[in-house]
Amino acid sequence: MIKQAIIPLAGLGTRLLPLTSVIPKELLPINGKPNLEYILEECIDAGIKQFIFVVPKNRPSIKKYFFNDKFYKKIIKKKKNDKKLKQVFQRIKKYQKMIKFVYQNKPEGTGDAVLKCKKYLKEKYFLMLLADDLIIKKNCSKEMIALHKKKRSAIIATKKVNIKTVSRWGILGFTDKTKNSFLINKVIEKPSRSEAPSNFAIIGRYILPKKIISVLRNQKRGKGGEIHITDAIRTLIQKREKFFGNIFKGKYIDCGTLDGYIDSNLKISKKN
Ligand code: G1P
Repeated sequence: MIKQAIIPLAGLGTRLLPLTSVIPKELLPINGKPNLEYILEECIDAGIKQFIFVVPKNRPSIKKYFFNDKFYKKIIKKKKNDKKLKQVFQRIKKYQKMIKFVYQNKPEGTGDAVLKCKKYLKEKYFLMLLADDLIIKKNCSKEMIALHKKKRSAIIATKKVNIKTVSRWGILGFTDKTKNSFLINKVIEKPSRSEAPSNFAIIGRYILPKKIISVLRNQKRGKGGEIHITDAIRTLIQKREKFFGNIFKGKYIDCGTLDGYIDSNLKISKKN
């Protein structure tokens, strides 16, 4: 069973400045709700029971967003008949019970974020999601968990991207492709066009085996001086651990860029 989800939230959000100089990118609103809540809803619908948020200590706003009971109690006391207000508080309280915080004070990469969660990981596999990769219309985490149950293996969400953009993504090589999945035999973080084994990119959803922790412990820094989860996955594949690509059906929106963020507002308001 996949019950835990790690959500790295220590990124600087430089592609979204100046907005991110005051608001973390995961709290930027999309049609009235922060990006992060869409991710949490997707996970809860897929059966996740616990979230591990990896945050920097000096950025308290994410904690404050979910843990600000005093503030809510004070206004609820003042506005006793405001039903909507109570509903909002209940929504936040529901998340509160499910969230644990782990600290990563420097943005040292997704691999480092996972390593910081090691003492909280209970099951053999866990989910990791990158909060700026929104997937709408079809629950991607749910699809991945179903594939994981079938294959009893690690899973990575993937999508075909424009060949000209491969150097922006983690790129997968594969065999045994069907309409919705394939067996991964190669993975390279941000390859050049000539290095890229295909144009299937990793999109921010991973079902990872807990044993990846022991690989991460000894892993050297990769591209940009960060500890990438992609490099640890490559080591595991070389050690014959099976990873499948889940070619998801939903619609992907890259909320880490200004164009993508604007697009997410348009697409999500259309959906509702
Ligand atoms: C990260 C991953 C990359 C993946 C991408 C998806 O890159 O390292 O493998 O393809 O997310 O959004 P980043 O967006 O942090 O540069």
